[in-house]
Amino acid sequence: MNPRNPVILCVDDEVANLKLLENILVPRGYTVVSANSGQDALRKIKSQTIDLVLLDVIMPGMDGFEVCRQIKEDPKLRDIPIIMITALTAKQDHVRGIEAGAEDFLAKPIEKTVALARIKLLLKVKELSDERKRAEEALQKSHDELESKVRERTAELAKANSELTLAYDATIEGWSRALDLRDKETEGHSQRVTELAVRLALTFGLGEAELVQVRWGALLHDIGKMGIADGILLKPGPLTAEEWALMKQHPSIAYEMLAPVRYLRLALDIPYRHHEKWDGTGYPLGLRGEQIPLTARIFAVVDVWDAMRSDRPYRAGWPEEEVRANIRSLAGSHFDPQVVEVFLKMDPVSGFNIE
Ligand code: C2E
Ligand code: SIN
Ligand code: SIN
Ligand code: FE
Ligand code: FE
Repeated sequence: MNPRNPVILCVDDEVANLKLLENILVPRGYTVVSANSGQDALRKIKSQTIDLVLLDVIMPGMDGFEVCRQIKEDPKLRDIPIIMITALTAKQDHVRGIEAGAEDFLAKPIEKTVALARIKLLLKVKELSDERKRAEEALQKSHDELESKVRERTAELAKANSELTLAYDATIEGWSRALDLRDKETEGHSQRVTELAVRLALTFGLGEAELVQVRWGALLHDIGKMGIADGILLKPGPLTAEEWALMKQHPSIAYEMLAPVRYLRLALDIPYRHHEKWDGTGYPLGLRGEQIPLTARIFAVVDVWDAMRSDRPYRAGWPEEEVRANIRSLAGSHFDPQVVEVFLKMDPVSGFNIE
């Protein structure tokens, strides 16, 4: 596979020992690089490709343990196997060598056959571990590429999705303005309640996706009034029983209109349920308490607030303090008391109302 000769760095302060190693290794096809001191060895191992190190322990200046330790501390070099050459009897040297990170030991005087066998074995181990590392790196690389493709694709989808959301939003806002225009006196009502509802929903910790649904639901909350005749909707006085029965259908009409629209599935909670009451006396279903979706409970308070503050064909708007007192008095009957509490603390509620 690898056509080049394995390169062995031989480190010894005695030229005679280096010569001896060279005589053993070169005839076996190894390339020998010699170093006669620790510093020399470190310089050479950093400047060229070395496959294995034969390292004398006792050298003047930097000894073999220190050279070994420094090689093993360097992430770029630590995989190069090191065989330390020690005196046969020096058990203590083996312990220190292991602590310094050496892979193997050879006793002085060098036994040629043993030395060659150990070198061959360690080079084989190194070759296998290099191969595994290359495979792992290739795998990691393709994994990284895949991951970055997925990230790219996700970003594209998010962008497309947010463009779509903006397009929906513009459409819904257009519908909402058209609805408000039908009744000059409620003009701006949908915009104001939408802003208030989103602020209140934020206070209740709703997430980004839910807030979008609150916004759309609020903008469209009275879309069902499209099904109510002008004679009733714009009547400048109280409704008859039959008229009121028709008027009370506006949440169900909203449901009929919007239920087929997939992206409004959750926003529908507000148009369909904004006239349900906490005590179960609302319409169209008479849901009570937490059966009513939180977004609809939030919206109900905001809607009544703004409706009472505004002029209607059948009555003038109420002063703020009276509306405030009225909303407070309806906590626990018409409204979720917790929503009322948070709403009345919200500042400045009145900032969103007509002068
Ligand atoms: P809207 O005017 O948008 O009012 C929404 C809700 O605010 C009402 O729901 C009610 O809970 C509250 N609200 C508004 N104005 C008053 C008020 O003067 N007194 C009291 N106590 N509450 C008020 P509600 O009652 O279910 O009414 C739904 C819709 O029916 C109203 O929407 C309005 O379009 C219509 N409507 C209600 N009463 C009359 C009326 O006497 N004459 C006419 N022409 N329409 C009415
Ligand atoms: C009704 O007209 O019967 C009730 C309307 C209202 O609460 O304003
Ligand atoms: C929600 O409708 O978003 C929350 C459910 C609840 O607490 O009513
Ligand atoms: Fe309504
Ligand atoms: Fe309303």
